[in-house]
Amino acid sequence: MCHHNRFLLLNVAKSDIISLVFQVDETLCPFKLSQEQLQLVKARMRAGLEAGLKTKGSSAIKMLPSYVYRTPDGTEHGKYLALDLGGTNFRAMMVNFKRQNARLYHKIYTIPLEIMQGTGEELFDHIAQCVSDFLDYMGMKNAHLPAGFTFSFPCEQTAIDTGTLVSWTKGYKATDCEGHDVVSMLREAIKRRNEFDLDIVAVVNDTVGTMMSCAYEDPQCEIGLIAGTGTNVCYMEEVDAELSKMCINTEWGGLGDDGSLDDIITPYDMEVNQNSINPGRQRFEKLTSGMYLGEIVRQVLLDLTRGGLLFRGHVTETLKTPGIFETKYLSQIERWEKLCVRSILQQLGLKGTCDDSIIVKEVCGAVSRRAAQLCGAGMAAVVDKIRENRGLDHLNITVGVDGALYKLHPHFSRVLKDTTEVLAPQCNVTFLPSEEGSGKGAALISAVARQMHADSLSGTLLDIMQQFRRELAKGLGRDTNPTAALKMLPTFVRSIPDGSEKGDFIALDLGGSNFRILRVKVSHEKKQTVQMESQIYDTPEDIIHGSGTRLFDHVAECLGDFMEKQNIKDKKLPVGFTFSFPCQQTKLDEGFLITWTKRFKAGGVEGMDVVKLLNKAIKKRGDYDADIMAVVNDTVGTMMTCGFDDQRCEVGIIIGTGTNACYMEELRNIDLVEGDEGRMCVNTEWGAFGDDGRLEDIRTEFDREIDRGSINPGKQLFEKMVSGMYMGELVRLILVKMAREGLVFEGRITPELLTKGKFETKHISAIEKSKEGLSKAREILTRLGVEPSTDDFSLVSQVCTVVSFRSANLIAAALAGILMRLKENKGVARLRTTVGIDGSLYKMHPQYARRLHKAVRRLVPDTDVRFLLSESGSGKGAAMVTAVAYRLTYSSRIFWSYLQSVHAFFSIYHRNVF
Ligand code: BG6
Ligand code: BG6
Ligand code: GLC
Ligand code: GLC
Repeated sequence: MCHHNRFLLLNVAKSDIISLVFQVDETLCPFKLSQEQLQLVKARMRAGLEAGLKTKGSSAIKMLPSYVYRTPDGTEHGKYLALDLGGTNFRAMMVNFKRQNARLYHKIYTIPLEIMQGTGEELFDHIAQCVSDFLDYMGMKNAHLPAGFTFSFPCEQTAIDTGTLVSWTKGYKATDCEGHDVVSMLREAIKRRNEFDLDIVAVVNDTVGTMMSCAYEDPQCEIGLIAGTGTNVCYMEEVDAELSKMCINTEWGGLGDDGSLDDIITPYDMEVNQNSINPGRQRFEKLTSGMYLGEIVRQVLLDLTRGGLLFRGHVTETLKTPGIFETKYLSQIERWEKLCVRSILQQLGLKGTCDDSIIVKEVCGAVSRRAAQLCGAGMAAVVDKIRENRGLDHLNITVGVDGALYKLHPHFSRVLKDTTEVLAPQCNVTFLPSEEGSGKGAALISAVARQMHADSLSGTLLDIMQQFRRELAKGLGRDTNPTAALKMLPTFVRSIPDGSEKGDFIALDLGGSNFRILRVKVSHEKKQTVQMESQIYDTPEDIIHGSGTRLFDHVAECLGDFMEKQNIKDKKLPVGFTFSFPCQQTKLDEGFLITWTKRFKAGGVEGMDVVKLLNKAIKKRGDYDADIMAVVNDTVGTMMTCGFDDQRCEVGIIIGTGTNACYMEELRNIDLVEGDEGRMCVNTEWGAFGDDGRLEDIRTEFDREIDRGSINPGKQLFEKMVSGMYMGELVRLILVKMAREGLVFEGRITPELLTKGKFETKHISAIEKSKEGLSKAREILTRLGVEPSTDDFSLVSQVCTVVSFRSANLIAAALAGILMRLKENKGVARLRTTVGIDGSLYKMHPQYARRLHKAVRRLVPDTDVRFLLSESGSGKGAAMVTAVAYRLTYSSRIFWSYLQSVHAFFSIYHRNVF
């Protein structure tokens, strides 16, 4: 029995006072929990947490995995939408993370009771409508933002972006939601609205969102607590020895649902439970959270009034009205602001005396104090568990907290903290109120989830990068080269242009999507300037697939035509020949074609020196002469073109019809060439990466089909996964399969869709352009004979993105391998370098370049890479190589004639003397 002497102020006779004190005290007595009782609650909470972890969902405390593995680390960035449903308000929020800073914009919406308790479809349609309004307000309807969804109810998750509602709690009761994935329901509502799109990346409980929000400020925050409409806790639990931690949403509101709190439950609590929308459930929540505390107080007041101890025994209709006494009144009354209790009571239609006010305040105090103490006991169990998990004698930890009860009630936070301290003396617990709600946390989780996805991708890419590095080394070794997939061909180009090049040159550029002939004049008046004129010539299919003689006759004929037009048929200009196929070289002006790649397959050329074949064709004509001084791969031409503008350029890559890369390797590492001093450009021919089976793990059925139908099966397997000649076809094959399975075009397959080559890589670029993508997609798909629906557009565009993203990522992995090698060769901690790039895919695709750059920078973090687009093709670079060759040949001719004359002189001298 509790005896206190607090009613001396009361304006009643002394004997009455004693009786009143006694009776009120007796009524409130069950709310006053002793230390022992609180210890017991702590122990039961602890047992509940353990049971929940063991039984996975079937016990009173559910302990739901959240798939959040870590708290934020400050690297999160980007714009996110956050939707926050389940607290007092529904809130839509835009969060922009930038350099450890978050900017937030939000708007609050109410969810009417009839929607909370209507059908699931109505509820999610209402949310979609609020989101639509918010996006309008932000002017971001077309942004297709990544979104995090705070859904403050118990959800069974199997991944970060799915959550099956276990059961509604608090005031919600919408039909057809329990047992369903709430993310799918939201997606469907957005689809029904057909007005905007979102990429829902994560669904999180409000406790988890709160923990993440606070952890952004304080890295020691590993617990999230809500003391608001409902109550709940999440914390970072050690899930297994390897993965270490995962945030667990305890749903501690369910403690007592198995009867374990029956000894502290009062008749008033029972009444509140019976009148709730979920009797028998959330028993702990019903003792401690904002939605119920006012109701408990009303039940006590009703009882006291019925007993004649309050309001002169006058039970009004108001007092009998459920929900009339809100928790916010509790906070106001306990704040005891200027004795406003009477006016609050009056507002409620309860005419009370001054004495009544004091009793009402006592009741509120008892109910709220018990709530805070119970939460403190629960918290003590949680922090002790974490401390023991980690085998610590002492734990310092921060709890991120949110909820109206915690924030608005004058004593709740203090009592909570005191109780936790007393019951968990080995833990130093800091409570950190969340300033901006759980939305910021949901956005952070979305950012982390995206990063985790990127990390796991990086895992594969890192693997590929390492394999590629091993292949580079294999191709360079004398003994390993014959069996290596990467041929690592020496190019006999030893330096980047140094600015001294000059002269008048012809460049031939054969092997990309166009055959081009150029005249390149490099002069040195004041500074080095380059003038270029060029013409594109056709290379019809019958010529590139005919005989080698015909092909080179055609090249010679085009060159004759060009010289005639340039009026230089009578000159013998030095010619640089960009020949974009793998060639074995022992010197600059000789190149034996190893094998045709891409579209070319002219007979009798493989194994032959292409310079000789071209010279022969020119001679056969006899109408002009040419001095072919250098044959270079297009990657080399590109590196030299870019090297002309940036001396740091030491890598050249092509991402066009085909793909390939060259880079400057230390001569001492190139076993196939004599000499150890200086560097030489090596043509990697990386398109053949995987030809020895190394990429089998990541090749798909579509890649295999492309290979089977190509002119060189089993060869250039990397090229076939990533380059422009094949990507469109990859998309087409995927669409055919999807149509066969009825996933697109209502399962209709047209003859056009079945035609090889009908879907081109340029179509991918057009569809992925965000602005005109949709109308382009319509046009392209209509040409394929299908009548696409809106869903079809979105699916086709997703397929395009998957294929082009994979390409950019794979090329990034290979390029990262080259950069790592350069870094190692130079022995520097940080590499500063430039990569020259050319090729239609890189140039035309709207997002390819950005994705590639980003992935490379992620894979080789200690590098400052400049990506330099080759504006003028590889012809200019070929001319630069030719200029050097010309100078060397020219000066060696002088040298030889000088040597001969010296020799002659010496022999004369010799003869004379001896
Ligand atoms: C808000 C959070 O601040 O607090 C919500 O953003 C959370 O996610 C809510 O549900 C809890 O408090 P209340 O008092 O609104 O239920
Ligand atoms: C051109 C270069 O710009 O790009 C060629 O001059 C190169 O040498 C070509 O082969 C590669 O791209 P695509 O897309 O034409 O294969
Ligand atoms: C209820 C919900 C829980 C939520 C809490 C606080 O207990 O079941 O998921 O975290 O309310 O909003
Ligand atoms: C093919 C060729 C290669 C060329 C590349 C880009 O892979 O084999 O030599 O550099 O296409 O055009």
